[in-house]
Amino acid sequence: MGNLSFNLKDKVFVVTGGSRGIGLEITKMLLDQKAKVAICGRKQEGLDAATAELNAGENLLAVPAHVARSEDVDGLFNRTLEVFGRVDGLINNVGMNIVTGLVDADPGLWNKIIDSNLNGTFLCSRQAGQIMREQKKGKIVSISSIAGRRSAPFMGIYGVAKAGIEMMTKVMAQELAAFNVQVNAVAPGMVRTKFSEPFWSNSEIYEQIIKSIPLGRIAEPADVAWTVLFLCSEASDFITGQTLMVDGGASAV
Ligand SMILES: NC(=O)c1ccc[n+]([C@@H]2O[C@H](COP(=O)([O-])OP(=O)(O)OC[C@H]3O[C@@H](n4cnc5c(N)ncnc54)[C@H](OP(=O)(O)O)[C@@H]3O)[C@@H](O)[C@H]2O)c1
Repeated sequence: MGNLSFNLKDKVFVVTGGSRGIGLEITKMLLDQKAKVAICGRKQEGLDAATAELNAGENLLAVPAHVARSEDVDGLFNRTLEVFGRVDGLINNVGMNIVTGLVDADPGLWNKIIDSNLNGTFLCSRQAGQIMREQKKGKIVSISSIAGRRSAPFMGIYGVAKAGIEMMTKVMAQELAAFNVQVNAVAPGMVRTKFSEPFWSNSEIYEQIIKSIPLGRIAEPADVAWTVLFLCSEASDFITGQTLMVDGGASAV
């Protein structure tokens, strides 16, 4: 699949959380398509390691930014416009979870999980939406989760945030449709990254998990990244307001 072409040469993308995991894979694939990419993450070391690994020269910009801080998000988009001149696509990839019951959750923990997953997606989409509305063209793709559709005890705050992303996707898709901007989301089941390592690295838990996945395995980051590339390309120009499940058929059962 490595040579599939999505016609993204010289297009400019912002990938939040592009320093590792799914975001890093999306960034790699966009660069392989000869696109220009601005990534962000909170930690400079993570950005430096990704920059060294990607070795993409002037096609990559790495900006330290916390997506739930509006001044950081302003900085990320201003810098992207300064260096690359436009924004053709935004990938809202940042997400995090801390396993906790909802009923007993500490309000501070609620704020932290909602901040990174939902408020960050809002702040970045708002900026990108305004830029793309002027350009009369653009793509916004957010990474949701199967947890936004299926309630999972101890993943409640995360699930609420991801369900919020799905609704944000539908509303922004309507608001931006007249400006030729498509807004979609991708909802993976478990993906083999650091985020979910405690689950997939334990063989007993892994065997249990894949029993509910018709395709018989968890996702690799590339499974999600290819779907994101499709939603960033002209091939998906008539798709908007949708959340595409990338879960090996789990939600079809
Ligand atoms: N892995 C899974 O099983 C799975 C399943 C379904 C959905 N997802 C979703 O897929 C997305 C990516 O997950 P992943 O597994 O690739 O995660 P990951 O390996 O933990 O990577 C997260 C990335 O986001 C950055 N980040 C985290 N919080 C941030 C913040 N507040 N502001 C800016 N950057 C931030 C991290 O860098 P810093 O630490 O330097 O900030 C890192 O680059 C998330 O939205 C997640 O909810 C994952």
